[in-house]
Amino acid sequence: MKEAQGACAPTAPVSQGTLDKVLQEVDRIAQTFTIDRESLQRITDHFVKELERGLGNEDGDIPMNVTWVMNQPTGYETGQFLTVDFGGTNLRVCNVTLTEEKGGCELTQHKFKLSKHMRKCTADELWGFIADRINDFIQEHNLRPHNSEKLPLAFTFSYPVTQDNIRHGVLQRWTKGWDISGVEGHDVVAQLEQALEQRNIPVHIVALVNDTTGALIASAYRDPEVKVGSILGTGCNAAYMEKCGRIPKIASHNLPADQLVGINTEYGAFDNSHQVLPRCDFDLEIDRASPRPGQQTYEKMVAGLYTGELFRLIIVHLHDTVGFLEGCDLRRLRDVHAMESSVLSRMEEENATPESTMVETRTMLKQEFGIEPTLEELKICCLLAEIVCMRAARLYACGIAAICKKEGVTRGRVGVDGSAFSKNYKFKERAAAALREILEWPAEEEDLITFVPAEDGSGIGAALIAALTVGNH
Ligand code: GLC
Repeated sequence: MKEAQGACAPTAPVSQGTLDKVLQEVDRIAQTFTIDRESLQRITDHFVKELERGLGNEDGDIPMNVTWVMNQPTGYETGQFLTVDFGGTNLRVCNVTLTEEKGGCELTQHKFKLSKHMRKCTADELWGFIADRINDFIQEHNLRPHNSEKLPLAFTFSYPVTQDNIRHGVLQRWTKGWDISGVEGHDVVAQLEQALEQRNIPVHIVALVNDTTGALIASAYRDPEVKVGSILGTGCNAAYMEKCGRIPKIASHNLPADQLVGINTEYGAFDNSHQVLPRCDFDLEIDRASPRPGQQTYEKMVAGLYTGELFRLIIVHLHDTVGFLEGCDLRRLRDVHAMESSVLSRMEEENATPESTMVETRTMLKQEFGIEPTLEELKICCLLAEIVCMRAARLYACGIAAICKKEGVTRGRVGVDGSAFSKNYKFKERAAAALREILEWPAEEEDLITFVPAEDGSGIGAALIAALTVGNH
């Protein structure tokens, strides 16, 4: 009986006894998700130490990857570049022209959604897929290299890599649920170039860029007050410019101490050694079910790939232990990652008007998950969404506060990209409030460090980095 799958028995009022038990358990969970000011500050202080440690020679939790982006654009960069962005959810191919006029650029693009099954495909399939999409784009837009040279490409690869130079990057480990064998420990530039060569596609890679570095460069280019570039989407990370003299691990390069270089912190890995983050059972469960248990501890509490999953785990737990959504068949909610974080946002937004009868959430839960909660239960769902998202936003502020504290940045802007930031209800306000608590700004002061939407990092930012690299400036 297909109809009955995941359906609810006709919504019956929840008994007071059950409701009391559910509320008690929700209360207990809420406490484990609450992070007060003192804890935020303690986490931030530990974060600062770990950022420092990552720049040194001994291994710490945070990789602090040197990106070899050494220059800031002036606005006079020129040239035409292909860019490819392989992040967590989409593949985007662009043709970016940086024009003669200061700061001028033109961009055409194609975006492809990456299917979930690709996360576990083979390396050949992955690079072949990317190369084919680049080829389709070149054909469609009739792009030809000048003087029979190859078309220059900036490749945004949003995973941690060790780079000897900007045209090179050995994947340290997959993050964000990707798990393709034969790539970790290898140079991803060489692997993509091989797939391009095998297909005779006239493209060569001039720069390998992380999405945070692209966001930083593109944003600082338009607004010099931007000191940090950050992504809060499927994953969570940030980049900033550091003085070479403060990076002991590249001391052997003998670079001028004042020379700036981009650092991709990869701070999603913060607290992999489990010293400060208050992880609860649901966090442990997420970690256990992920392809890389023990990795990306901070990211797993903050980023978009995980907030929907945390919420899903809580709902299933409440159902199984205290009879929440009694009478509903939660089959469709039992699959790992069955719920995207956007669901939480939609719920919270609808609940913003207290008298709301939650019509849209009701329809969405019925259509997507086959469950029909009562209004009381819906309100509990909203409360749980708030609990999960509030913790994510408050913890997100710790990473940003830590970079600012470490760098002595007391005023400035943080350019942030990613759907979990831009589309999630109140994320920005919650993170801003937490930043204020951590950094203890006087009540009469406006926010001294603010979050602003980043400029297009993987399109324009990557093209600017490519132009700086090939010397078109
Ligand atoms: C993950 C990746 C990192 C990326 C971030 C945001 O943390 O490891 O490279 O910047 O997600 O996409």
